[in-house]
Amino acid sequence: MKLWSFKWLFQFVNFMCSRENIEAKVQTCCNKEWLEVETYSGRATVNCEELCNLKSREQISSPVQTGNSRKERQTHSSCSMSLDFSKMDLSSRPKLFDFHGVAMIPIFTANWENVQNFQARPDDILIATYPKAGTTWVSQILDLLYFGKTSPERLTSLPIYERVPFLEMTIPNLVSGKDQADKLPTTPRLIKTHFPVQFVPKSFWEQNCRMVYVARNAKDNMVSYYHFDCMNNAQPAAGDWNTFFQRFMEGDMVFGSWYDHVNGWWKKKQTHSNIHYMFYEDMIEDTGREIEKLCSFIGLSPSAEEKEMIKTGVQFDNMKKNKMANYSTLPVMDFKVSPFMRKGKVGDWKNYFTVAQNEEFDEDYKRKMKDPTLHFRCGL
Ligand code: PPS
Repeated sequence: MKLWSFKWLFQFVNFMCSRENIEAKVQTCCNKEWLEVETYSGRATVNCEELCNLKSREQISSPVQTGNSRKERQTHSSCSMSLDFSKMDLSSRPKLFDFHGVAMIPIFTANWENVQNFQARPDDILIATYPKAGTTWVSQILDLLYFGKTSPERLTSLPIYERVPFLEMTIPNLVSGKDQADKLPTTPRLIKTHFPVQFVPKSFWEQNCRMVYVARNAKDNMVSYYHFDCMNNAQPAAGDWNTFFQRFMEGDMVFGSWYDHVNGWWKKKQTHSNIHYMFYEDMIEDTGREIEKLCSFIGLSPSAEEKEMIKTGVQFDNMKKNKMANYSTLPVMDFKVSPFMRKGKVGDWKNYFTVAQNEEFDEDYKRKMKDPTLHFRCGL
């Protein structure tokens, strides 16, 4: 296993464990090669040697009753141990690389073949977005619409990233979004992706699955993405605002160019009636109206009372407070830098773009966004 994957392996365990669950329970025989780790999403195997190497580099700090060296491990017949992932070194960030013409990072490409071979079911719902466009918001709405009445405990006991697995997310030898999706017990299965349209596994098209795409105006999307890259240690470093601004326009972001993403899905929607294309700004303007449209698309008719409850439950302030929706259970995100639910507004870009940047952006935007039918609102 390559060096990067050691680090990511533990970042991912950290990622999958809540702060409350940070003492991941590990049970093993020390003379075995592999440990089983309990994560939110079930059991995962971790290479014992890597684990102990990490311990010896003080990346795991809580009492570890196993030996650090292979020799010591082999002298024990059995032991159990707990891991304190909170002291893990998350200082080094992944680097972007070109993947089939799209800038990506390893955690979203390492499981490529399995993800491409994912077997979608006709009733699966794919929630697709460019990062920071409103994925969590729409995921929570759909989860409430489908399961709010029948399994309300889901919403209070499972974080959003378990209820709606992130298909392409993976770390070698640990739980992957694809496996999580395979094991989802719900009907329908709600599945999240940030893939540009050309990366979507073919079975979703073959099964004629419904897809909900959410797009957000580029300026606010950029600002939100900037804060996310500042606070999420699993993302490439944001750098300073000016550099980030240029990189965004060049499409040098995880999941590539915003322009290609929103245009690619928009074009696909013209020939696929099973794609519901939504705008973040419309949701801010009138959440109830957008929930109505979503209901028509998925063929649900909740009562007026249910719709009202959902509308209230997914208001920004309520979702920000909701531990099962606000990502506060993921230590990989540093909320001291910025919360995941940051502002939830249209027009926050005005607090970041300089006048010169705005002019440069608008010029560049005109060159890239040629389709007059795809229109975004940068203010309400
Ligand atoms: S991710 O990481 O790609 O899944 O992020 P994503 O959920 O797509 O986008 C996060 C931004 O959406 C905002 N958000 C909301 N806005 C309004 N109302 C509600 N309920 C809501 N839920 C999430 C969130 O605050 C992020 O935007 P910014 O501008 O950073 O606040």
